[in-house]
Amino acid sequence: MPLSVETFRGETGALHWPVCRVLQAHRMQMATTHMRDLFAADPARAERFSLQVGDVLLDYSKNRITDETMALLLRLAEEADVAGWRERMFGGEKINNTENRAVLHVALRNRSNQPAIVDGEDVMPKVNAVIEKMGAFAKQVRSGEWRGYSGERITDVVNIGIGGSDLGPQMAVQALMPYRHPQLKAHFISNIDGAHVKEALESLNPATTLFIVASKTFTTQETMTNAHYARTWFLAQAQDERHIVGHFVAVSTNREAVTAFGIDPANMFEFWDWVGGRYSLWSAIGLSIVLAVGVERFDELLDGAHAMDEHFRHAPLDRNMPVILALLGVWYNNFFGAESHAILPYDHALRSLPAYLQQADMESNGKSVDRDGKVVDYDTGPIIWGATGINGQHAFYQLLHQGTRLIPADFIVSVEPHDDLQEHHDILIANVLAQTEALMRGRTREETQLEMGSPQTSPFVQHKVFDGNHPSNAILLQTLTPHTLGMLIALYEHKIFVQGVIWNLNSYDQWGVELGKQLASRILPELHADAPVDSHDASTNALINHYRRMNHP
Ligand code: F6P
Repeated sequence: MPLSVETFRGETGALHWPVCRVLQAHRMQMATTHMRDLFAADPARAERFSLQVGDVLLDYSKNRITDETMALLLRLAEEADVAGWRERMFGGEKINNTENRAVLHVALRNRSNQPAIVDGEDVMPKVNAVIEKMGAFAKQVRSGEWRGYSGERITDVVNIGIGGSDLGPQMAVQALMPYRHPQLKAHFISNIDGAHVKEALESLNPATTLFIVASKTFTTQETMTNAHYARTWFLAQAQDERHIVGHFVAVSTNREAVTAFGIDPANMFEFWDWVGGRYSLWSAIGLSIVLAVGVERFDELLDGAHAMDEHFRHAPLDRNMPVILALLGVWYNNFFGAESHAILPYDHALRSLPAYLQQADMESNGKSVDRDGKVVDYDTGPIIWGATGINGQHAFYQLLHQGTRLIPADFIVSVEPHDDLQEHHDILIANVLAQTEALMRGRTREETQLEMGSPQTSPFVQHKVFDGNHPSNAILLQTLTPHTLGMLIALYEHKIFVQGVIWNLNSYDQWGVELGKQLASRILPELHADAPVDSHDASTNALINHYRRMNHP
């Protein structure tokens, strides 16, 4: 029997770069080091382990690190040739080797307009042309100049897409709510569960609704099924196929399929195979963002991402925000056995960020085969999870503080809110700061006893002890603007890139989503089979047959 990934996984999960042996030994030394003592011994710790880039401040001092740790981790980045891979990416090399594609989402926000070369061609003219086309279209819709078939203005924009063609624009539109057009509402339909499309369309008027069918491939079953349903829903009222042109536009790389759907190619917004789905919100996939907040704000989003790109590309590794975040993640993932990483925004507008980063990170680095096709014997991408922190405090933080697992967390905060509810904001900020402090410091048995006034022997004291020493990063945005949002997303994109380099992965393919798709297309006709199905394992057969009996009696 061939060795499985399970049997292959190393005992320590350690990486193979030469410095990793030293890091292993260092990790043993650090096992007994408490961050509380590191802070006590070094009043300048917070300052030393903080970094500001534009309006984004990263405080990474509440990590289980010393100067030596950071020096060793930086050696790791050097040994893995992060700088070399970074240049390969920016240079348009086909670093997505399994699909033979360049990885150039950075070109989409290349505000310097320096040539970005793919296959000997500068892609900037076509990137700029699409942004211009999106801007011109959005201007017409937002101004009311673009009319629906009945002559009314568009009031609702519905993005139909899934995965990268949904999560990014949805997250960004939500994050930029304060900038939205007051008379244009954005909706997002992704789920193939009919309840989603039904609910979304329930209150809409076909005459004032504009659909964006967003799909890189224009073959994704969920998206195409929802798009066809929306088309039927629209025609039930509009009656005439010629009206489709004013109510359906497409974002895709697949012109033929778009035309076959009945969408005017003039209303197709193009992007290219060197833009990965989960890195595509900067491309035409961001059309719903442009419609919601206008092209000037979208430009600011791109500017912000470009500022982070420039920082990532040019700052030395030891003062490089994405590199530092990536190295800290590797430190816990591969040397402390941390299995997950929590994303905890303390900003209601960023409530969809955890779901967005789940795809960005887990679809990129959730792999057990390296870029050369070898099964790895070390851990790669962690489980990314999270929710708005303040709600999490009343739900899952118990485990963060007193559970048995090490869960590194990013706390993301806006210093200045968009609203004027100062008391609300102060409470929010007090809470996030308290959480990072509590996770780091904990509360000793002595402190607990003192606070409780309990006798030494009380059996309940231990329940109220907090070990602390839980690592976290604090990421402070001055205000959540298109610019800082762009910086934040690009920060995570590059973090994921650096980790992929260290784990020797191709972070830009996603073969792991294929098998389920294939099996689903085999099962679909079987749900209507006349005779009981017996072509799968006993459990799958039984479930299919149960569904056949109960749903299609
Ligand atoms: O199935 C995963 C995936 O391919 C994602 O990578 C992608 O973002 C999503 O599906 C949607 O794909 P498309 O934009 O081609 O519809």
